[in-house]
This record gives sequence, C-alpha cells and structure tokens, in this order.
Amino acid sequence: MNAPTALKNLLPVSGVQQGTDIVHESAHLHVTGSATYIDDIPEHAGTLYAALILSPVAHGELIGDGIDREAILKEHGVVAVYTAKDIPGENNCGPIVHDDPFLAAGKVEFVGQAVAVVVARDMLYAREAAKKAKVLVKELKPILTVEEAMEAGSFIMPPKGITRGDAAAAIASAPHKIKGTTRTGQQEQFYLEGQITYAVPKEDGQLTLYVSTQHPDGNQREAAHALNLHTNDVEVICRRMGGGFGGKEGNASIFSQSAALAAHKLGKPVKLRVNRDDDMTITGKRHDFRIDYEVGFDDNGRVLGADITLMSRCGYSTDYSGPVNDRACLHIDNTYHLPALKLVSHRCKTNTQSATAFRGFGGPQGMFGIETVMDEIAMTLGKDPLEVRKLNLYKDPSISGTPDTMTTQYNQLIEDWVGDKVIAQVEQESKYAERRAAVQAFNAKSKTRKRGIALVPLKFGISFTATHLNQGGALLVVYMDGSVSCNHGGTEMGQGLNTKMAQVCADGLGISVDHVRITATDSQKVPNASATSASSGADINGAAIMNATAQMRERLKPVAARMLGCAEGDVTFANNEVHGGGKSVKWGDVTKQAWLDRVGLSVTGFYMTPEIKYDFTTLNGRAFYYYCYGAAVSEVEIDTRTGEWWLKAVDIVHDVGRSINPALDKGQIEGAYVQGMGWLTMEECIWDKKGKLLTHGPSTYKIPVAGDIPEHFKVSLFDNANLKPTPFNSKATGEPPLMLGLSAFFALRDAVAASADHKVVVRMDAPATPERILMACEAVKAAAA
Ligand code: MTE
Ligand code: MOS
Repeated sequence: MNAPTALKNLLPVSGVQQGTDIVHESAHLHVTGSATYIDDIPEHAGTLYAALILSPVAHGELIGDGIDREAILKEHGVVAVYTAKDIPGENNCGPIVHDDPFLAAGKVEFVGQAVAVVVARDMLYAREAAKKAKVLVKELKPILTVEEAMEAGSFIMPPKGITRGDAAAAIASAPHKIKGTTRTGQQEQFYLEGQITYAVPKEDGQLTLYVSTQHPDGNQREAAHALNLHTNDVEVICRRMGGGFGGKEGNASIFSQSAALAAHKLGKPVKLRVNRDDDMTITGKRHDFRIDYEVGFDDNGRVLGADITLMSRCGYSTDYSGPVNDRACLHIDNTYHLPALKLVSHRCKTNTQSATAFRGFGGPQGMFGIETVMDEIAMTLGKDPLEVRKLNLYKDPSISGTPDTMTTQYNQLIEDWVGDKVIAQVEQESKYAERRAAVQAFNAKSKTRKRGIALVPLKFGISFTATHLNQGGALLVVYMDGSVSCNHGGTEMGQGLNTKMAQVCADGLGISVDHVRITATDSQKVPNASATSASSGADINGAAIMNATAQMRERLKPVAARMLGCAEGDVTFANNEVHGGGKSVKWGDVTKQAWLDRVGLSVTGFYMTPEIKYDFTTLNGRAFYYYCYGAAVSEVEIDTRTGEWWLKAVDIVHDVGRSINPALDKGQIEGAYVQGMGWLTMEECIWDKKGKLLTHGPSTYKIPVAGDIPEHFKVSLFDNANLKPTPFNSKATGEPPLMLGLSAFFALRDAVAASADHKVVVRMDAPATPERILMACEAVKAAAA
C-alpha cells in the first residue's frame, strides 16, 4: 500500500466512537489481578531460570572471560553458565549503533554490566549462584561525571549544534545579560512490572520470546542476529507491559538476548526476571544534563541572543543518546522564538549505565534550559515570569513584523501555533492574576512559609526524529460472526493504546467497540514495527488500522450491495449495520454472507507519516509532522527552615487534538504531570565515588505517590482538532504532558525567591529536593543581606 492511498482513506466513517470515554480494555483485568503479564504465563514443563552476573566495578579489563566457570557450575542447581564467548552471532543489544554487548566482552564499563548468564533449576538458585560468582577483572579508572568526560574528551559521538544569526554579537550589544549553569537529574523509569523475558525454543531451532517490551521487532532482530538465525525464526510476543516509560524501548533487549541465548543453547524454556535492585542497577535512565547559558535581552525581557551548551551523561554506549540529545536541541526553544542562537550539544561517554529513552526523550531537558533562562530574565528585571514568557512567544510574522518569528531554530515553520491561546485559557481558568496577588499577600504576612506560583507552557514536536521509523502496520481479521480481531505494531504499556485502537477499528467498520479485540503484539503478525515510543503509537498504528478498515469496507460493499439491492457506491457502515438504498442489514449478516461468497476477510493496513524531511546531521528542516501544546499553573508552599514543600494546586490546559478517548487522555496528562514533577522535585539518583548507584530501590529512590497529588488538580482539554489527518484528528498524548511538571519546579523557584523578597536571582538545580530548596533559601537570604 503506498502512502497516497493510505492518506486518502484517512477519514473516520461513522464518527460513532469518536471521542468517547471508553474504559481501558483491560481495566477489569487490572483491578481483579487477572491481566496476564509475562510472569503470569503458565510455564512449560522443564523451564529453567536465568540470572545475570554483574560487574562490580565501573571500568575494568576482564581476565579471561571474567568468570570461573568450574566454580559456578558446581553451585547448587546450576545447569549452565554463558559468557560473550558462547554467543554464536552478534553480541549486541544496542538499538541503533551496535556498540552495546549484552554480555561484556573483554572489558566492563559500568557497575551492573552483565558479564555472564547463569541458568539453574530454580530462580533462587540462579540468583544465588550469580551473586556468589566472583567477576575476574582488573580495575581501571572510570569516568563518571559530565565534567570528567568533558575534561577527558570522552564522547559517544561528535557534538552537534545549531547556529541561527550571530548570537555572540547579539549578546554583546544587548542591554542586559545573564550567564549561568543549571542541571537536571537522572530519572528511573520505575515501571511496576520489572524487566522480564520468557524464552521458549520451538521446533527446528526456532524461538518464541515473551518479552515485556516496547519494541518486539528490535528484540526479534537482535536475537536472530545473536543466534545466527533468520528474523523469521524468532517470534516476539507482548500482550501488555506493566509500564515502560521508555525503559523497555531498548533496554528490554539486555534481558531478552540473554534469555534467548540460554534457551537456544539448552533447547529448554528459560525465564529471566530480575529483581528491582538489579533492574535499577543494570538499566539506563533519563540523561542528566548540564546546561550552560549566556543570554542577552532587552529592557522588557525579550531575548536578543542566546549561547547555550548542553552536556549530557550518556553512559557507556550509544543507545538512544543520539536522538535524545537531538530532541533536546530541537526543544531548546520550547514555545519561544530565539532570534539569535548558538547551541552546542555534547554527548558525554561515562562509565555509567547507558542512559536511554524516558518519556519526553531529551525534550524535557532542553525545555528546562530555556525555562530557566525565562525565569532568570524575569528575576533580573523584577517582572512576573509569565510576562517575560509571553513576550518571547512565537508570533505570526504579520503581527511581529519580523519574517521568522514563527520559524524554529531548525527552520521548521510552525503551522499549528496555538501556544498563546492555550496560555490564555489556563491563565483564565486558574485565575492566575488573582492567585498571584493572593500568593504575594500570603508571603507578605508569612515569615517562614512562602508560596510560589508559575505558569509554564509547552510545545512538543511529534514524529520520530529518525524519519524512517514513522511507519505503522496493522492486520485486520473479520470472522463470519462479525467479530473482529485486530493487530497492530504498537505495544500496550498502560497508556491505553489498545483501547484507542479498538475505537479506531470499530469506527472504521461502523460497529461498536465490543466487536473488536486487539490481540497481543506479535512480531509475526505485523513485521518490522517501530518501537512504541515518541508518543506515536496511536498516530501511526491508528492510521494503519484506518487504512485496513477502508480496504475491508471496499471488500464488503459488493456483498452488502447485493443484499440491499443498491449500488455499491451507496453502501455505508454505521451503528452495527450496513446501509444502502433506504434499507439496512446487520453487520454480522454481511460478514456471514461475505464468507459464503468467498470474500477474503483479512487485510493488512499500512501507513507512513508524510511531509517530514530533515537533515539530522545539521538538525535542519521539518523534523515534526505537528506540535502538541499545553500549559500548567502550579502553586506550592515551602517551609524556608526545612525545605519541605507542598503542592497546593495545579491547573492544566492541554492540547490532545480531537481526543479519541478523553478519559484516557486525561489519565495520561495527570500521570505525566506527576511523573514530570517527580523528576524535577524528588527523584534523585545518588552514586558513590566508584560509580555504584546507591539509590537502587524504592527505599532510597523516591517517586511521587498518591499523596503527592494536589487536592486541586484540574485538567482541561484544549478544543483543537489536529490540522493533520490523524485518527479522529487527535494528537499524540503520551509524552508531552510530562513537561507540564516544569511548572512545579518554577513555582518552587518563585517561592524560594520570595524568601528574600524577590531581590535575588535563585540558583537551584533539579531535582528541587527539600535539601536543595533549603540551601537555595539560605543562599538567597544571605545574598539579600
Ligand atoms: N503511560 C503508561 N501508563 N505507561 C507507560 O509506560 N509510557 C509513556 C507514555 N505513557 C507510558 C505511558 C511513553 S514514554 C510513551 S512514548 C508513550 O506512552 C507511548 O505510547 P503512545 O505512543 O501510545 O502514546
Ligand atoms: Mo517513550 S520515552 O518515547 O518510550
């Protein structure tokens, strides 16, 4: 199916299911504990269990293959142990660049890197043997921080950058300047279901892998390459994940590869499930960034020129660090027009876990940078940051009188700008002006407790920055009783993709959603599927399903026309019926008749995102198909003596286009806000001097919980059909609202500033933990005095 045809068919037929709050297809299973996750799949007789032997050092040369095989094989219940030397094919779990061995070869490059896989009769035996095993290694000096990497010139790839105009000259001649450094922290994905694979060998050397994964196709291909099989010898199945958040996009392969190797070697089913501590030690997190900025601006706070350097900790391998850092560069503007910009992005190689995908994929870090700049400009000029933010927004050139004020730093013309309208709506709904005055009144009276408020907007580009990944596929099967089974390339991780896809499918056939089952994601049903990431799941797979349902309608039209005695062109599908010539027949009767007439009732659908075209080496061109917008107002209170803080109220207006399912979208927005707020305020990875992650479980790593949700938490959907022909003209919802959490951080900065009567510019890195809030308060108080 070529693209133009796919596009022509992209119109909902009936509109029946459009925008309805259909309950998550698995909600009843989730709440009754009967949803099947990988560990719930009944095990085959003879199943063995694997555990990984992990590097105890951040950097070292392995002696031999790093283990004492004989000693390990003598451990109770142990059946086999494998190292890199036992891999028949390619030793790789790197999703883009193949620089990521799944079992260390010759050297280890972070604490927690898998050196070997132990297989035993019982999971506890395997884990015990793995824990006891000594890793034979000659320790080398590690590079652990961004600073050390910059100093040593240790990078996973060359720097990239964007230059627009003459930033240095603009800054030099600007009436005001700011210069500083800020940082964002790492973040653990903290999916509830940990990483797991159950590998089951099949006849003739074939293999089925049940993986908790966002990218079955990647796991399939990599396993085939590792075992010298063809891709069609390996099947990857995932019914659902208990969360992924980017952490199972590339990282699931670390585990699926080892399990596949063991199962293939032994000819026995092998399960590999790691505990939380190992999971957090082994897998990559959100990239932490150091952001250096020098910005010139005018008396009103309008940015004239910005010189920004991004430095991120990428860990020991490339993983997704290229596109993550690219996305940071492509979101350094957020909603603001930067007339002159010099941006450089360094991708630092360190002896830490390979930093990987996490909701927002670099976008949040870039946006944090420019929002810090906006906030600091306002603090410098003694203005409300909202005023400065508004002043710097993208503007229609016919209003601004400057030709490029609706063009991004990467030369994409913004066609769907509603940023100002979204801000206006949330400003009004939250009663921002009144609340700002109330906060000031409170702060004037309160000595030790201070309040802060911030409105932060967002603009987020939708499309994979690797253009070729913007494709989706579907397999649609209709049974003679009219029930429908639909498969697509996306994966369900709690975000409700399968529910939305059932709605799109039902809508395309004019039937109610209870006719449709979305079956487990299976690499043998839809081939070469992109990872479910970049928030693109509903867009690309939904469009593929629409393409499939359009084809199915064409197949059924002649059948229905004969039954109705009308022209094929008059046949329509709606309300579980097929209509034409003033009459109607039941959907199930048409499908039954189609079978009797020997009409094929399965079709494949395909879709590729049109229009996008950009040069990722120079970060120039149309990177995104469209943008999502949003804005949040957060109000906080801090105790300036302890650094404790409370989130008092949150108001959000967010653009999901014309929602396929408003209830699911609101759930995504609420969850994403809280996750973003957690990243910026409480989640903190702490390392020892030798590169060991100390915060590797919920006892030491704090994520937000139900109690952290404010009493007032209002989410409004912005009424704004996508200008692009996406399913129902909806917009992607998965990642963008995470960045609404920025408003919590900047409300905290506002409260800290209040502790010194807004006289001093606040310096505070993220996460704004109570310790940092306290230190920032002390610092501004000291500076003011
Ligand atoms: N929501 C839940 N409940 N669980 C998740 O793991 N992952 C997020 C987001 N929302 C996630 C989630 C991330 S990182 C992405 S990219 C999108 O969902 C992916 O799904 P989508 O493309 O269908 O939005
Ligand atoms: Mo999401 S970080 O793109 O899996």
